[in-house]
Amino acid sequence: MTGPSAPVPGRPAVWVNCAASVDGRLAFAGGRRARLSSPEDLVRLQRLRANADAILVGVGTVVLDDPSLRVHWDLLNEPEGKNPIRVIVDSSGKTPAKARVLDGSAPTIVGTSQANRRRYPDHVERIVAGSDSVDLAELFRALVDRGVRRLLVEGGASILSSVLRGGLFDRFTIYYAPVVIGGLSAPPVARGPDVEAMEQALRLDLVEVERVGEGYVATYVPRSRPPPARP
Ligand SMILES: NC(=O)c1ccc[n+]([C@@H]2O[C@H](COP(=O)([O-])OP(=O)(O)OC[C@H]3O[C@@H](n4cnc5c(N)ncnc54)[C@H](OP(=O)(O)O)[C@@H]3O)[C@@H](O)[C@H]2O)c1
Repeated sequence: MTGPSAPVPGRPAVWVNCAASVDGRLAFAGGRRARLSSPEDLVRLQRLRANADAILVGVGTVVLDDPSLRVHWDLLNEPEGKNPIRVIVDSSGKTPAKARVLDGSAPTIVGTSQANRRRYPDHVERIVAGSDSVDLAELFRALVDRGVRRLLVEGGASILSSVLRGGLFDRFTIYYAPVVIGGLSAPPVARGPDVEAMEQALRLDLVEVERVGEGYVATYVPRSRPPPARP
């Protein structure tokens, strides 16, 4: 993870990354995992992970994909190094007991709410942020206190919506695979509340487009200026 690394007051530098189909879906129908990244994009993702202090996903992704959230050093042709902290956002304790993120193979934090009475394994740190669902801004502040300066947010659709629409990010990269998924139940890049007008939509600035294998990566930053007036 290069790019924004200077800590923003009150939160880490946050890089959001995901892979989507050209019609903006993160997975197949019902959320079934789609391996959308090309081999070249997988290497790019491993580099982002290796350069981050922590990697964050929502519990929906843990339940559906069971990711390890570990750096695959072999894809980088590098010897095994330190794995970033794994951060799971889980308000009510839905992380399955057998989830790979709870296997103790890397430092792991569960960001949760006061309402969650679930016990996690001893090696898992618990950060309470929010009363019913997780207050991500509060969680990010707590991560800074634990030395996290660079946070990689990988998904899924609900977390991406909260982080992006909450303005809690500095850089957003999407790998677009040359694939169309369609349908009604495949998760979009961002869920969250309905938007009915452009004024309510999150506006971004496109800063870079790069071909990566058979697809391309678009890089966006939060919009820093008002959109141009329509003629
Ligand atoms: N293509 C990619 O790059 C990529 C990457 C990651 C995931 N995915 C896909 O994304 C899909 C999962 O997305 P998802 O929306 O179902 O799950 P998600 O975004 O991974 O997790 C959402 C869950 O997080 C919890 N949460 C707690 N506080 C939250 C907050 N402030 N904002 C948002 N969520 C909060 C909620 O559950 P509780 O209320 O129970 O806590 C919520 O249901 C899967 O299909 C997966 O394959 C794709």
